[in-house]
Amino acid sequence: MTAQHITIAASILSADFTRLGEEIAAAERGGVDTIHVDVMDGRFVPEISIGPVVLEAVKRTTRRPIDVHLMIMEPERQVPAFARSGATSMTVHVEAVPHLHRVVQQIKDLGVRAAAALNPGTPLGTVEQVLPDLDMVLLMTVNPGYAGQQFILSVLPKVRQLRSWIEERGLDLDVQVDGGINESTAPRAVDAGANVLVAASAIFKGEGGPEAAAKRLRAAATATAKAEGSRQ
Ligand code: DX5
Ligand code: ZN
Repeated sequence: MTAQHITIAASILSADFTRLGEEIAAAERGGVDTIHVDVMDGRFVPEISIGPVVLEAVKRTTRRPIDVHLMIMEPERQVPAFARSGATSMTVHVEAVPHLHRVVQQIKDLGVRAAAALNPGTPLGTVEQVLPDLDMVLLMTVNPGYAGQQFILSVLPKVRQLRSWIEERGLDLDVQVDGGINESTAPRAVDAGANVLVAASAIFKGEGGPEAAAKRLRAAATATAKAEGSRQ
């Protein structure tokens, strides 16, 4: 793999919601590229989190792209509302949709980048058929539902496999990882082929605040990317 830009996405799930605008601004000063919004419905995952109203507020506080991660059943019913509220990219879980190809087209028809997410226990084959239609694949590195969980190392071979499919097939597709990303796991994910890293607690609960924490995360991830580039 050649050295490339690593995209850092700050998941607001661990932010202080009484000061959301300031928290996002601090993460931006720390150099995050994207704001990641985790939507949970209490069915696909146990918790209920954020809806379009909060997304609209986020949209007003940032000019960065907003990446909406839908951890919900029947996402096709909510896709239009999240598109209207400001999503730049939208991710649906393959485990939550019987008609993946149709939802992907629905998202793209609304002018939004489309992504499919796989839980740690879900094989890559579930997304293979729609890879040419996607802008991004999200490989979950925790079981979705909560911030602050531990990175599941056994997902790394799946990241590697996806990256090699992309290269062999000449696809133009981002590989995103989400869950347990911190200064020690980020380099491993990048080394395996991820180029978009989502982090909640490492940024918003990191020492010194979101600005300093985001900078440290970028440095850890980029060191690997540089080493990778110089090896080839
Ligand atoms: C988990 C969410 C993640 C979560 C990450 O279900 O999709 O985006 O906020 O949290 P950390 O980075 O703390 O593992
Ligand atoms: Zn997420």
